[in-house]
Amino acid sequence: MKKKIMILPGDGIGPEVAQEGRRVLEHVGRHFGHSFEINEGLIGGHSLDTYGEPLTDEVLQQCKDADAVLLGAVGGPKWDQNPGELRPEKALLKLRKELGLFANLRPVEVLAPLATASPLKKEIVADVDLLVVRELTGGLYFGKKEQGQTPGGENWAVDELIYSEHEVERIAHVAFQTARKRRNKVTSVDKANVLESSRLWRATVERVHTEYPDVELEHMLVDNAAMQLIRSPKQFDVVVTENMFGDILSDEASVLAGSIGLMPSASLSASAGLGLYESVHGSAPDIAGQEKANPLATILSVAMLLRHSFDLNPEAQLIEKAVKQVIKDGYRTLDIGQGETVGETQVLGTTDMTDAVISRLDQSITQTEKVK
Ligand code: IPM
Ligand code: MG
Repeated sequence: MKKKIMILPGDGIGPEVAQEGRRVLEHVGRHFGHSFEINEGLIGGHSLDTYGEPLTDEVLQQCKDADAVLLGAVGGPKWDQNPGELRPEKALLKLRKELGLFANLRPVEVLAPLATASPLKKEIVADVDLLVVRELTGGLYFGKKEQGQTPGGENWAVDELIYSEHEVERIAHVAFQTARKRRNKVTSVDKANVLESSRLWRATVERVHTEYPDVELEHMLVDNAAMQLIRSPKQFDVVVTENMFGDILSDEASVLAGSIGLMPSASLSASAGLGLYESVHGSAPDIAGQEKANPLATILSVAMLLRHSFDLNPEAQLIEKAVKQVIKDGYRTLDIGQGETVGETQVLGTTDMTDAVISRLDQSITQTEKVK
């Protein structure tokens, strides 16, 4: 298979984890005889420093021309005081919008040996396996934004929360279709007791649901969902929600898995194939350049890339299996290295953790070849 991949390392720990993702991608490519043409480009703060803008038209075009995009992370204190248009995060929002990446999949799977890595009780988090399907190109993030001043001299600001039916319809389809491949349950999260946009959301999700009678649908108000997620997370299979709620709930859900450093994501468009893959964690500037970052979220994002953009399911599964094995074998990064553990564990740096994954990959490839 011949594919073009654009890698955007970004800021903070972004370049470190992107580099590790690239190693795993190239390794798998070599083993399976795929030809992956990889290009890299600047995004976020690094692009601001070099070109004066968070995402240049050239890099955007390169992403559009690629078959998939792998992103490190963007942002950092250096650019925190910049106006909205010149913030590193703007690059990410522009990419999502320009590439039409409306469906953001954020799986949360609690690996058995890490059930004690979460601050929540083991009985609550063990066996959790849920998927947040976050709408990614609408709502508050992309509504009209304005700041002004009253005649009396008081400053005001407004962010518009707007959704059109087609935006809700297409994300609802993604949720129902994904649920069919899982445990057939969708929880649609909104604030329909207060927000007009949520009432449209709920009615639209219900209408789309009539096409999926085999899938169970429930509605949940977002405040309750925030509570249920930590009270009894096992009740969830697919959680579908609008952009802002999804941003908040997916960070909350990451706590179940023990660390946000384990959470991959896929942002998909309507045109089959093209997607953007990134860890859910941010650029963590405080630990950048110290070999402390957990590369597993990015490595798992590479697995999602292979599955969703290239339809390479066996390759994706192999990576996921290798990550699970590494954890089972007792290897940890700092973020998951503390707390109560069963058996021996060893804390590794970013590069060594990736090496451990690659060696497990090789082991299972050798085993598969023997079976053949
Ligand atoms: C995320 C991040 C982004 C978001 C930021 C960096 C703009 O928090 O992907 O969850 O809010 O969507
Ligand atoms: Mg977020």
